[in-house]
Amino acid sequence: MPRVNRTTVLTLLIITSSVFLLFQLHYYRKYVSKSLPMSVWSLQQTVKKFLGLARHFGLPLFLADTAALTLLSQDSLRQRDRLVHEPHCSFLCTGRPVTSFALHANLWKYEPGFLLAAKQKGFELLELRGQDPRLASLDNLSGEEIPLHFLFRLHGHIIQVVFLYERSGNYLWHGELRLKAHVDRSFAPFKLLDYGRHPGSYDRPELVLTVVDGIDVRIPRNISRFLSEQRQARFLECRYRDARNFLQLYPDDVSPDAVDFRRKVKSLLHLAGRTLAQLDIPFWLSSGTCLGWFRQCSVISYSRDVDIGIFIGDFRSDIVSAFRSAGLSLKHKFGKVEDSLELSFLSEDVKLDIFFFYGDGDVVWNGGTQAKSGKKFKYIFPRFSLCWAELLDLKVRVPCETLDYVTANYGASWSVPVRSWDWKSSPSNVQRNGEWPRAEWAELIQVY
Ligand SMILES: *[C@@H]1O[C@H](CO)[C@@H](O)[C@H](O)[C@H]1NC(C)=O
Ligand SMILES: *[C@@H]1O[C@H](CO)[C@@H](O)[C@H](O)[C@H]1NC(C)=O
Repeated sequence: MPRVNRTTVLTLLIITSSVFLLFQLHYYRKYVSKSLPMSVWSLQQTVKKFLGLARHFGLPLFLADTAALTLLSQDSLRQRDRLVHEPHCSFLCTGRPVTSFALHANLWKYEPGFLLAAKQKGFELLELRGQDPRLASLDNLSGEEIPLHFLFRLHGHIIQVVFLYERSGNYLWHGELRLKAHVDRSFAPFKLLDYGRHPGSYDRPELVLTVVDGIDVRIPRNISRFLSEQRQARFLECRYRDARNFLQLYPDDVSPDAVDFRRKVKSLLHLAGRTLAQLDIPFWLSSGTCLGWFRQCSVISYSRDVDIGIFIGDFRSDIVSAFRSAGLSLKHKFGKVEDSLELSFLSEDVKLDIFFFYGDGDVVWNGGTQAKSGKKFKYIFPRFSLCWAELLDLKVRVPCETLDYVTANYGASWSVPVRSWDWKSSPSNVQRNGEWPRAEWAELIQVY
């Protein structure tokens, strides 16, 4: 072999390896160094350290962080990427300065030893307490203070622990994160927290143990369900203090008939809730049932029926058959899906009125129909969003802007009981809305 060739080969080799080296450097800068700056490393260590402590003290925790869970739920899409780049912190390093966990408070005995150990490991702690709503009722307004949120801080990273308490309506509840006057407002970026802006309520999620970024942690089995619950978890406590004042002015009817009526309402609401949940249709307490919850944390005993609202966009044609299968009989059906739909069912001697709500600009309305004359009515409300609440030990929805809703319907004097009520003229928000054409009565006015 001639000597010139050997030199060429050597030169070529040097060039190739230099190019390779440059490529590696570039790759390192692009993928590795970017995904593992100091803060990422310390974040992962912070979470790891915290979970190690939590495991040692037996805290019943699960990952409740919306950003991390969102990344986990997209995992299948990302799996190929992950195998190529092998980043070290794919899910917990969400780019946010907070990681949130939920704690099943009924399964944990408050242990100061845990907090002490956390402090020894370098964590700073902010503990936020509030009144225990499980003790608040019409009889007792002085709830004891319970822990609602823990915030742990290490290396500038915050770990939020949300306490979830079992409520009597068989659901989990967490409190609002309220900063008392002396609290250091710079302790955490409070506006960025996933939990605590409002109280929230959740069904008990089924959990699974998994490994996230090399750390053992429990997560909700159905992440998308949990995240969608999280987005609409806001909970309203009943206004026990006002309700008690109301009941002092207007004592509750405790006759056997009234007690019996409340029992029937409870079982009817329970049945309606279950039936509509199976169909995935959200509903809320409307009219008198909503007023009863808002004004007296109970049912108005002389109202004789249960009223609920459903957005027309959530209507499903199998709703009637579902209620029939649940043992209710259809009493009447007024209107049509396009206009003023109203369904009424009977269970024992209590009526369930389902009003469908239609959007129109910045208001929503539901219709009414007078069977004997074919006259149409319209009840107009300001737009509202839906919140969870508890009535008769049941978790139900109500309009979050309950005062506006009730005031629209019953006027400014909603807090004064009115026993003689005419649905066509008494409500503050009722309007005449023409008549159904006589030729369509058979279809639009069905009474059974
Ligand atoms: C009322 O609440 C206080 C404070 O939590 C509690 O000690 C007391 O037992 C409660 N009373 C009743 C009648 O529930
Ligand atoms: C998760 O929950 C959603 C919404 O409730 C449901 O549609 C879906 O079927 C559930 N997925 C699994 C795997 O159970």
